[in-house]
Order: sequence, then structure tokens, then C-alpha cells
Amino acid sequence: MTRLSRFETALEGLSRKDRLRGLAPREGLDFASNDYLGLAASPRLAEAVREAIGRGAVGAAGSRLLRGNHPEHEALEAEAAAFFGAEKALYFGAGFSANVALIQTLPQRGDLVVHDELIHASVHDGLKGCRAETVAFAHNDAGAAEDAIRAFRERGGTGAPWIAAESLYSMDGDRAPVAELMALAERNDGFLLLDEAHATGVLGARGRGLGRDLRGTRGARLDPHLR
Ligand SMILES: Cc1ncc(COP(=O)(O)O)c(C=O)c1O
Repeated sequence: MTRLSRFETALEGLSRKDRLRGLAPREGLDFASNDYLGLAASPRLAEAVREAIGRGAVGAAGSRLLRGNHPEHEALEAEAAAFFGAEKALYFGAGFSANVALIQTLPQRGDLVVHDELIHASVHDGLKGCRAETVAFAHNDAGAAEDAIRAFRERGGTGAPWIAAESLYSMDGDRAPVAELMALAERNDGFLLLDEAHATGVLGARGRGLGRDLRGTRGARLDPHLR
């Protein structure tokens, strides 16, 4: 029995059930990626990347908080904020890390995170280190989200509710009732965290997503694929 044998046993178990995952070559028709607009092979984007590299933006060389902040980052974020009509934008290396970071830093102890039961795995991962109380609501059911907030208040919860949802769910292809969720956040002095990963570039005026036109006063927006 070696230290590694429990992992080997687990891998063999997965293999026996035909559930062992591996990396496959990219081939055949694409019905599984999220490259809806074909941007991954865009010559214009490739050219923009080459130009940026020419301006010296090869690597951050450190955390942005220390020496890693580059004018290219700031220019990109300013452009994104202007496009989305937001006060500010902040890019992350991946949507996954954006969701984990937001869920683990914004909601505070005493708050409530009310999330759609089908929200992306990255939010679920973030919830594991979240200081707030967390509860799922039935998929796309704003009434169920409201019930969860009411129950939180009834058991003495005084913090802010954070409603987390995706605007467009890629697996099911359906949209969240974003206006209702925003109104719910407003009525309860809370926030809407809207993951527009699959709506950006696809839904809303000029592909700005569904959150763009919500006129909330305190709505937080989350666009993991803006990077
Ligand atoms: C809704 C949603 N949010 C976040 C992510 C994570 O984004 P990334 O792949 O950029 O880490 C994904 C990935 O598919 C997603 O579908």
C-alpha cells in the first residue's frame, strides 16, 4: 500500500465505470464549445494580440497589486466598461477565478447568497469559501428566490441578499428572469450577481448581455468571459 494507491484505486474505479476523463484532440463538428462567435479563430483578434505583444504586454511579471499592472490592462478594462455602460470593469485570468473571487469577497458574514440551483460550477466552488449563508433556489424561479430571502429575514437575517444567476444557461438554453431578479434585489436592499458568460456577444443590444439595460442602483455585474 503506497501513499498513491488510494488515487490509483479511485482512477481504476472510474475507468471500470467508463468515467475516466482524458484530453481528446479537437476534431469533428463543434457542438460543445462556447466559441459561439468563432472568436477563437478570429484573424482580427489574432492581429490585436500580436500588436499588444509588440507594445510589450507579454506577461504581467507579477501580481497586479504589486508590479504587474500594465497600461494595457487598464486600457482593456476602460474599453470594456465603456462598452457595457459600467462604471468600472475588472478582468480576471478566467471566468472561473472571477466567480470564485467575487463570491468569496463581496458577500460578507451575515449576508445571504441566494443562487440558482443550476448556476455554474465555479460559483459552487466559490460558495465553499463564502462567508455568507448560502441557499439554492429552483431554476429560474424568482418567486422561490424571494421565499428564500423572506425565510432568511424571518429567522433574523439582517445582512444583504446576493442573488446569483446566469443570464443565459448554456446547457438548457433558457434565460433567467433578469428584470424580476433585479427588482427582487432592489426591493430587498440587495445585489444581483449576473454571470453573462454565455450572453456576452450574443444577447442584448450589440451583444452587451441582458444585464446592460437593467437600471438598478446597486446591481453588480459579472462578465467572466471579458478577458
Ligand atoms: C456560466 C459560466 N460561468 C463561468 C465559466 C467559467 O469560465 P472560464 O471557462 O473562463 O473559466 C463558465 C465556463 O464555461 C460558464 O459557462
